[in-house]
Amino acid sequence: MKQDMIVLLDLGSTQNTVLARAIRALGVYSEIHPHDITPAQLRALPNVKGIVLFGGENRCVDGVDVDVDPALYDLGLPVFAIDHPAAKCENLPAMPDEAWLRKWLFETCHAEANWNMKNFIADQIERVRAQVGKGKVLLALSGGVDSSVVAALLVKAVGKQLTCVHVNHGLMRKDESELVCKVFGAHLGANLVYCDCTDRFLDKLAGVADPEAKRKIIGSEFIRVFEEEARKLDGIAFLGQGTIYPDIVESGTKTAKMVKSHHNVGGLPPDLQFKLVEPLLQLFKDEVRACGVELGLPPEMVYRQPFPGPGLGVRCLGAITRDRLAALRASDAILREEIEKAGLGIWQYFTVIPDTRATGVKHNARAWDWPVIIRCVNTVDAMTAEVPEVPWPVLRRITDRILAEVPGVCRVCYELSPKPCATIEWE
Ligand code: XMP
Repeated sequence: MKQDMIVLLDLGSTQNTVLARAIRALGVYSEIHPHDITPAQLRALPNVKGIVLFGGENRCVDGVDVDVDPALYDLGLPVFAIDHPAAKCENLPAMPDEAWLRKWLFETCHAEANWNMKNFIADQIERVRAQVGKGKVLLALSGGVDSSVVAALLVKAVGKQLTCVHVNHGLMRKDESELVCKVFGAHLGANLVYCDCTDRFLDKLAGVADPEAKRKIIGSEFIRVFEEEARKLDGIAFLGQGTIYPDIVESGTKTAKMVKSHHNVGGLPPDLQFKLVEPLLQLFKDEVRACGVELGLPPEMVYRQPFPGPGLGVRCLGAITRDRLAALRASDAILREEIEKAGLGIWQYFTVIPDTRATGVKHNARAWDWPVIIRCVNTVDAMTAEVPEVPWPVLRRITDRILAEVPGVCRVCYELSPKPCATIEWE
């Protein structure tokens, strides 16, 4: 193993991630583990140099007081506790300052500042190989940042023992599935099963206008396709997942028990008994991107905008039709191209197509075509969002191109609503 590690035990403090990041910022890798880790499990982790107990104010998970196994204090590792009265070691009143933390890491724990992406990847490859042995691994590769990065890492770790399944639900953006096939099939030489299920999804969605019903159909059909593909493959023992640390935090708890339920791949049938392989579990989003860059993934994959699982399905408002979906995809591609060219650094931008026609005039004749709405937002965490001022010439160029190049569209609108009152997506 290349990196030293500090283990931070999760006792319910909301500041865990802040501290984990502070330790990593000093060049030492840190992992957050559940408070009820056993001494044997902790001893099995590689290169642990010290343990942090972070009680915080609650020290309480799901309404129950939690504590750690006192045997953890006897492993011969430095333990440092913040706000944790049960610890029989150095106590500090509040978050340690950087100088104190530095002293503890390098003088007490004798940790080396050897955390970087190269070493992280090398260590995770070793850990994945140890876990998987000669077993086969299956991965649902959506083309999103997390699943792409985990796929690239698993290809490096286990090569042909990995099979990636890319389900194209027909609601991807322009050229997205092609990029996945090019990067993973052609470039990285992964075993890639590509399922073009466009007709299957669009047929199921035909006439369904309710947003929740649409999401449910897309979600459950996705799992069904994935399950069918998994059954065709023999002897798969492991399921790769691009779960990252914020996924666990956002699921609303930090206990081991809830972590498992979060990882339960919502809805995969119980008779598909996979063990999970999740090498990105301890990373934050920016670190996942850095990992992708280090693994050689193209920037358009690593710096991809957030994209809803139901894809363009939630931007083709009301009942999805093929003509409007085509207009949405084409206008979205033009918008992306022009905003990127203008270098405006906008956080998220896409087009939306309503299911209401509007009057237009084209080629000296009355037209009865679709409007397209441009949605641009800046935000830090997607909880609130502001609408940026896109320069007029850029908006005009986007409008001209959409009207000239996208059949069936006669109007382009720019949306001005912040979040709140509006959400970022329309459905
Ligand atoms: P809203 O519309 O709730 O969106 O303001 C906030 C952010 O989340 C993205 N989003 C989704 N992402 N699955 C996802 O993975 C979804 O179903 C989904 N819905 C919204 C949205 O694009 C925005 O960045």
